[in-house]
Amino acid sequence: MRFGIVIVSLALLTAGPAFADAGLNLVMHGSKNGAPPCSSCHGETGAGQPAAGIPRLAGLDARYIVRQLESFTSSTRANSVMHPIASALTAPERTAVAGYFSGQTPPRAKDTVPDPKLIAAGAALAARGDWSKGIPACKSCHAPDALGTDGTVPRLAAQSSEYIVAQLRAWQAGTRHDDPLGLMTAIASKLDADQVAAVAAYFSSQPVNGAPIGAPASDPVAEETTKPVLQGFAPPPENAIPNDDFGKMVRLGENIFQNPQRFAAPYVGNTLSCSNCHIGRGRLAGSAPLWAAYVAYPAYRSKNKHVNTFEERMQGCFKFSMNGKAPPLGSETLVALETYSYFLAKGAPTGADLPGRGYPNLQMPARPFDYARGQKVYEQNCALCHGTDGQGQAAPDGRTVFPALWGPHSFNWGAGMGNIKNAAAFIKANMPFSRGGTLSDQQAWDVAAFVDSHERPQDPRFTGSVADTRAKYHDGATWMYGKTVNGIVLGAHSVPPGKR
Ligand code: HEC
Ligand code: HEC
Ligand code: HEC
Ligand code: HEC
Repeated sequence: MRFGIVIVSLALLTAGPAFADAGLNLVMHGSKNGAPPCSSCHGETGAGQPAAGIPRLAGLDARYIVRQLESFTSSTRANSVMHPIASALTAPERTAVAGYFSGQTPPRAKDTVPDPKLIAAGAALAARGDWSKGIPACKSCHAPDALGTDGTVPRLAAQSSEYIVAQLRAWQAGTRHDDPLGLMTAIASKLDADQVAAVAAYFSSQPVNGAPIGAPASDPVAEETTKPVLQGFAPPPENAIPNDDFGKMVRLGENIFQNPQRFAAPYVGNTLSCSNCHIGRGRLAGSAPLWAAYVAYPAYRSKNKHVNTFEERMQGCFKFSMNGKAPPLGSETLVALETYSYFLAKGAPTGADLPGRGYPNLQMPARPFDYARGQKVYEQNCALCHGTDGQGQAAPDGRTVFPALWGPHSFNWGAGMGNIKNAAAFIKANMPFSRGGTLSDQQAWDVAAFVDSHERPQDPRFTGSVADTRAKYHDGATWMYGKTVNGIVLGAHSVPPGKR
């Protein structure tokens, strides 16, 4: 009993007294208009009844809860139990219950499906997806520890597995169809029954308060073999990585690629990861995959006017895209990344221009690209994840989920993505994330121009003058550096490069 009192008074402190009073009152006693007490099904602290498919509400973001109550009311999320209950709540009552439940501490996961094989299959799909079927990694949106992000994407860790299965089926059946940009509708439609069971078992078994102690640094390995995404070359599957010193280096390279803040910290000056722009851990065709790059070097680059080795090419992405420092040639960081790339390219012919290399080239648009049109595209298709301010979103544990597109935490002015041509090609093929190919070419150009018309860290090759730096490195119609946008000369107010 004393426990209950402690939890409630904590909620009072975090949610604010009036809020929590009204919320707690509704949860325990229901509403004047006839909504029953939420506690009778979801429990006093929102722990839910996992085995009965009644979701845990504790610790879910308040805005997400309000959005779901609205969807139950309008039946864009059709549910015969929650429809009358949500309809009976007034707007202030929704805010109050949402505030109350979001302030509760979610219970630790109870593993209701103790099947290690199923959980392992779910873990692999959650961390890696299955791009051969167009299924992205669940954790790319639901966050590395499945904790979700503020308001946009709900936490899945410790959620009821019966409930998760029911939601994925509801999207497949079209009875839940208010998900933003149709993201979950599209993803659920690609999952088969085994995959649904596996991800549900996995997420329900995950703890809420961070990774379990002693958790492996690497994500679990997928069992399936990789199939080509475009016709052409397919990199070997994860489970082909040998269990020896070579294999260790491959795994280190993959870890650096996925989480450079942790595995290559001295060389990183922003919150991005290599895989943010080379999606699917450098495997996905059309997203500058590592296997296609590896066999294309050494090569002459006009950017620095000499023949670059593969290692030197990667140094460039550290210096510009990661806004950091180039790791020394031969350092463990570059050797590991090169080993990972070599592994992915196994069997590919040297010097071949493999289909799927780089980002698919986009012709110049019919109408010149336009900032104002791009802003509209951005608001409708991108702000959901990258934020109206372009700064992205992090999980409650601080790890980046949606990367920053401009500002001090993004790539610097020297990066390839700062060239509207590259950005448009990347965006057309890969964004909105998991729905690549849905924007028109014109929309991709317009939104790329909008993204690349914002201030970001200075070009490390800055000569002391913006005009001079533009003339030397950014002299082309698809670079905004040095041009005036909304009364500001881009590059004139950049923070120095190389700071996190
Ligand atoms: C009779 C049992 C019952 C009662 C009482 C009840 N709920 Fe529910 N609730 C459910 C069930 C079952 C679901 C799962 C619906 C589905 O499968 O879509 C649910 C789902 C929800 C969800 C969606 C959670 C998510 O993760 O998307 C929210 C929010 C919610 N309920 C809020 C409330 C609130 C607030 C109250 C009290 C005013 C309440 N519920 C009362 C049974 C109940
Ligand atoms: C592209 C981003 C994205 C990816 C990838 C993604 N999700 Fe989601 N997911 C969302 C969003 C956004 C919502 C909230 C939908 C809403 O508001 O109705 C959501 C909601 C959910 C929910 C409902 C949770 C609840 O409390 O009701 C489940 C279950 C879910 N996702 C499972 C998955 C699984 C399993 C995968 C991987 C196979 C996955 N998601 C991949 C964006 C994503
Ligand atoms: C559903 C969420 C979501 C939406 C919507 C979305 N993105 Fe992304 N975006 C992501 C994720 C996740 C990544 C990183 C991919 C990865 O690591 O696998 C990303 C990466 C990027 C990157 C490269 C990394 C960086 O920080 O520069 C750019 C550029 C980008 N997105 C632009 C856009 C644009 C423009 C739109 C709208 C047309 C858009 N995105 C819509 C989730 C989203
Ligand atoms: C902000 C986005 C971004 C980030 C982050 C990023 N890159 Fe790149 N990378 C690019 C772009 C843009 C290109 C040029 C693609 C093209 O030419 O089509 C590129 C090219 C490459 C190439 C050469 C590809 C080829 O086919 O020639 C390699 C290798 C590479 N990057 C490795 C990395 C590594 C390793 C990291 C992390 C340390 C990283 N990148 C981080 C955007 C990024």
